[in-house]
Amino acid sequence: MELYEVGAQNQGNTAKLHILEELWKIKSKKLKVLDIGCAGPLPLQFWEPIFNNGMKFEFHGVDVAKVDEAERIAKEKKWDVKLYTLSAYELDKVFTEPSFDVVVSTQVLEHVTDRKKFVEQLASVTKKGGVVYLSMDSGHAEHNHHNHGAFEDPIGFIKCIGKDILVHFAGMHRYYDTPVKEGEIEPVFRDYGFEIEEKRFYNVHPLKRISSDYKGELKPLMMRNWKMYEDLLNENKEFLDANKHYFLALYYKLKKL
Ligand SMILES: C[S@@+](CC[C@H](N)C(=O)[O-])C[C@H]1O[C@@H](n2cnc3c(N)ncnc32)[C@H](O)[C@@H]1O
Repeated sequence: MELYEVGAQNQGNTAKLHILEELWKIKSKKLKVLDIGCAGPLPLQFWEPIFNNGMKFEFHGVDVAKVDEAERIAKEKKWDVKLYTLSAYELDKVFTEPSFDVVVSTQVLEHVTDRKKFVEQLASVTKKGGVVYLSMDSGHAEHNHHNHGAFEDPIGFIKCIGKDILVHFAGMHRYYDTPVKEGEIEPVFRDYGFEIEEKRFYNVHPLKRISSDYKGELKPLMMRNWKMYEDLLNENKEFLDANKHYFLALYYKLKKL
């Protein structure tokens, strides 16, 4: 339960929680680990339960924004991490060998305009036999803000148009926000030498929204049960094939061949 008490209450995303569970199992191994897009609105918060509980990783994190804030937080909390202001498109400028045992990137792919370049760079830093954990907004979700009409979700609709204007007319690529579809991304993974070890759908709508709004003390227990429920749904391939539109997030575990 420790993992859920320390971390899950902050995640609000069962795909990220699944990655956290995977990392929790290996945190005492001496592995070289990279997080691509490590900052976000709450820099490094994802890693807090791992960093605070006997982690032995050599940890590197990159992002295009808020790295100074991540550094300040890491220093304050005495986390031994190496952080870089670096784009996912230019990883090989700093990491010249495929040296990482584990690469994590949560909720970043939907913000990346050139996904082939992202995966090409991912391949250039991941060791042979290394593992990659990814979570992203699913392009199959009927309740994803991008698939909403103006009448159904006027605020979401206006926000999407605003972001599209910033990306296409002001060149502000960090506002790019387009959910990812299996058929688009899976051939790219294979082209760059990754095998898909595991794929799951997470974040059932509207539980995801309810969980984000709910602030009670039972939240860690609820997160754990919500996650278990979705894991059980993921056991049933036929159900998933017919119902992927219920899930807001897509999760992949890749292995570098
Ligand atoms: C939605 S946030 C997710 C942050 C964090 N991974 C999490 O799960 O909380 C997306 C992050 O991707 C970063 N990002 C966007 N494009 C990037 C790029 N080309 N290279 C590196 N990071 C990028 C953004 O700056 C932001 O920190």
